[in-house]
Amino acid sequence: MTASERPASERNVEKIVRGQATSDGAGVKLTRVIGTNRLPDLDPFLMLDEFGSDDPQAYLAGFPDHPHRGFETVTYMLAGRMRHGDNKGNVGLLEPGSVQWMTAGRGIVHSEMPEQEEGLMRGFQLWVNLPARDKMCAPRYQDIPPAAIPVFEPGDGNRIKIIAGRYAGIAGPVSAVATEPLYLDVHLVPQTELAIPVAADHSGFVYVYEGVAVAGDKPLAKGELGVLGSGNRLTLRTGDEPARLLVVAGKRLGEPVAKYGPFVMNTQAELHQAVADFRAGRF
Ligand code: CO
Repeated sequence: MTASERPASERNVEKIVRGQATSDGAGVKLTRVIGTNRLPDLDPFLMLDEFGSDDPQAYLAGFPDHPHRGFETVTYMLAGRMRHGDNKGNVGLLEPGSVQWMTAGRGIVHSEMPEQEEGLMRGFQLWVNLPARDKMCAPRYQDIPPAAIPVFEPGDGNRIKIIAGRYAGIAGPVSAVATEPLYLDVHLVPQTELAIPVAADHSGFVYVYEGVAVAGDKPLAKGELGVLGSGNRLTLRTGDEPARLLVVAGKRLGEPVAKYGPFVMNTQAELHQAVADFRAGRF
């Protein structure tokens, strides 16, 4: 049987977690949803942060120069801007609605400095692991402006922004990522139902950032992440409230993870090398 002939098996939610308030960078207040002791990781996803505030003091100090090696950082801005610069001379300004998919590979040192717009700043940063064979690849940026992100509108008022992967035959702009991710920003109207194919060999989650939605068999309130169980299709439903949520999935790597702050490798020896290379200015 081909994938399209295979009967749908529904993915349910096997675990629900709420984020934990924390701070990172130069004191930016944020909510960590993946990367806490309740949900240390979800192979291939290492971390998910939601940041957002209408108080500039909570975030304007930003994330000054810091390194990354061995994985990818994905920044999605809902509101406000993020000014980006790295030690290779790359600069950029992420606008509201834009995405930066950064493959750190063998190493970069960069700064990420938030700027509010009309008092608001809100977004997400997801860390996606790289397979062993790609950890020392050349760094790569995919800076995607809002206009380059397709929006599928089925006609019932629902909207699906396709950042990575495919939905309804439409491919998102993110390309050539080892974990073949699906990254959708889904806006649901009340009293609706929407089915989303999610590849059976991917792990995945739903994160509700506005309203309430039922994912598979369980309701998720604002600020709740549902880890998806096995299957190849996710059904989302709403009741009287609309909902906004992220649906993210990616291929499991199934490799050992050795992690130290912003370095994510496979072995302790590789971690020690990463620290030594960073200290010696080899990033
Ligand atoms: Co960073």
